[in-house]
Order: sequence, then C-alpha cells, then structure tokens
Amino acid sequence: MNVHASHTSHGSQKSFDYPLQDARGATCTAHAWAKVPPPQTPAQRAAAKEHAARLLKLHDAVLVAHYYVDGDLQDLALETGGCVADSLEMARFGRDHAAKTLVVAGVRFMGESAKILSPDKRVLMPDLDATCSLDLGCPPDEFAAFCDAHPDRQVVVYANTSAAVKARADWMVTSSCALAIVRHLKEQGQKILWAPDRHLGRYIQEQTGADMVMWNGACIVHDEFKGLELELLKQQHPGAQILVHPESPQSVVAMADVVGSTTQILDAVVQGSAQEYIIATDNGLLHRMRQLAPGKTLIEAPTAGNSATCKSCAHCPWMAMNALQGVVDCLEHGHGEIVVPEDVRRQALGCIDRMLAFVKANPGALQAPRRGFVPEVGAA
Ligand code: 13P
Ligand code: SF4
Repeated sequence: MNVHASHTSHGSQKSFDYPLQDARGATCTAHAWAKVPPPQTPAQRAAAKEHAARLLKLHDAVLVAHYYVDGDLQDLALETGGCVADSLEMARFGRDHAAKTLVVAGVRFMGESAKILSPDKRVLMPDLDATCSLDLGCPPDEFAAFCDAHPDRQVVVYANTSAAVKARADWMVTSSCALAIVRHLKEQGQKILWAPDRHLGRYIQEQTGADMVMWNGACIVHDEFKGLELELLKQQHPGAQILVHPESPQSVVAMADVVGSTTQILDAVVQGSAQEYIIATDNGLLHRMRQLAPGKTLIEAPTAGNSATCKSCAHCPWMAMNALQGVVDCLEHGHGEIVVPEDVRRQALGCIDRMLAFVKANPGALQAPRRGFVPEVGAA
C-alpha cells in the first residue's frame, strides 16, 4: 500500500493506493474522493430525495443504509421503511424484508452479503466502486494460501471481506459479535485464523486469550485515531465518555469507556447518563446520534496531531461515494447490480448463516463491553 498527501475538494487528505491486479472498485482513496458527488443546494437535495422515494416505491425496493453514509440517504431510508444500521443488522434486515429489490447504501461487501443471503432479490448499489481498505487488503488468492498454511485453525473473517474470502471461512463475524464468537470458539478448544483487521483481531485476542494468527489489514479511517491526542482531548473534557470502534489502534481502545460496533456506540450515547461523548469512529454516525440524543454534546476523536497533513480523515471515502443521485440512477437504469457467482455464494453462505444462528441463540452476544465489564455469552 502506498500513502500520499493530497488535496481534494474535501480538504487536505491522505491518499492510499492499493496497487492490486484485478481488484474491484476505487483502489485509491483519491479516486474515491474524486467520485464523491459535489454538495447540492437544499432545493436540489429535496427534489432528489423525493425522486428517489418515488422510484423505491415504483420498483418495490427498500433502502438499506449504513450509519456512515450521507445524512440525506439515512433520512430517506428511514422515511421510506428501510433501515439505517450496522453491517450485522443491514444483512438481517435485507434478508428478512419482503421487497424484490434491495438498494444497499454502504460499501461493496455489504451489497455482497445482502446478495449472498437473498439470491432471489435484486441487489443494487449507488456506486459499485465503493469498496473498503480491509477488503482491498485481503486478496482471495493470498488469503487462501494463508489458510492452506494453517489447516488446523478455524477460519474467522470479518464482514469487511469479499465473497471469495468468505467462501474460504468457517465463520463470518461483525464488530457487534466478534468477541462473543471468538470466546465461544476458544471455549470449544479451537485455534483461530483471523482476518483481515489487525486492530480488531488484537483487541479480541487480548480480551479472550484465544490462540489467533492474524492477517495484517487495517481500516484507513479508524487507523488514523491517535491515542496521545485523545488523552489531551480527554483532559479538556474530563466528564466525557470515550466510545471507540474496535478497528482503532490499541492506544485509542485502551482509553475507551465503551468499545463496540456502530450500533453499540450509538446505544451508549442514547442510553448513557453523561452529557459529553468523544466518538472514535467514522463521523457519519453523528448524524443519527444527533437525531436520537439531541441534548448531548458529541465530540469527534482526534485523527492527527497539529503537524500532520490529514485534518479530516474520520470519514470513509468509499462510504462518501453513496449519494441520493446514485439511488436514483441505480433504480432508473438498473446500474450497480451486485452479482455473486452461485458457487461462491453457496460457499460463502455457510459462514454468514453460522454467525446469524449464533447471534439468534445468544442475544447477549450483542452487548458492547464497557471498561471492567465482560458480557456473558448467552446472557439474556
Ligand atoms: P459496523 O459493523 O460496526 O457497522 O462496522 C462496519 C464498518 O465498516 C466499520 O468501519
Ligand atoms: Fe472499510 Fe474503514 Fe470504510 Fe468501514 S470505514 S468501510 S472498515 S474503510
């Protein structure tokens, strides 16, 4: 992976290249930022939203959106009977919804998971180039060789991977349930091969003591949070609760009052008694937080020191590619359809179904760990 400092219409950004042969999507973040549609006037946004809502109805489609996408898309999803959710809930919602077409506003692996679970539905995405650094950093061939080198291990992959990588896995996990599933496997005496996020893997290894070999991937957004700057920010806000997504570096996770998935972080703000919260995850989540916890003070965790070039990295360029116009275009013209070859789909389904069955049988698995508190697997 190559890193450059670059200047785009979104300000000073770090740009990451993934020079992979045959990789799908925008393999350079500068390319992704360049595809982010320019801001629209309020009148244009209202018109595009109304147009998209009409098309969703016309095509018997439902919008399944991630918390990190544009606020207008999140609002459209909720206003039209769709959902705004984390990657686990997006998969469940899409599978269980009766609509013939799912429009997935998020990144490619989310569209693929929807298609794997719902092969008879048409799955569209506003921009098929929206990918993820974890997916890009874990090419199926190299991953297969890694698995071949460790045949005695249960293969556990994060949701942020391609269908081909999932086809090789025993379990898929999301950040909501990864800890509980690895703990469960450890209790069964299993050794684990983990991919691709190194920070999440290390956090789970620390919490469970499981025997894990790990892929060396990272999320380019969460990897930017900085422990030292977070400590300084906390000194200015001593009463604030620190909420951290586990794709963040160890020094940041170590300061967390709550470590959890996007939904778990959101719940911690909505249910928490504190007035101030420092949020270490993509700032797209703040849109829903402001709606659900209007009186609370939300502070973005720092992504860099004063001398760094990157001032605004806490937003995923691939998530940012999703826009209202993309929803209109994919429904009007059938653009952006997700296709997963049937043999790959069938092989990948096993690891997703195993996770969904585990979560159903162990609802307590979805509880976010708080400092000094480790949830019981299987607790009600
Ligand atoms: P969640 O599963 O918490 O929604 O996370 C997905 C993701 O891509 C985080 O960067
Ligand atoms: Fe991938 Fe990170 Fe973007 Fe999530 S925020 S989709 S993990 S690059």
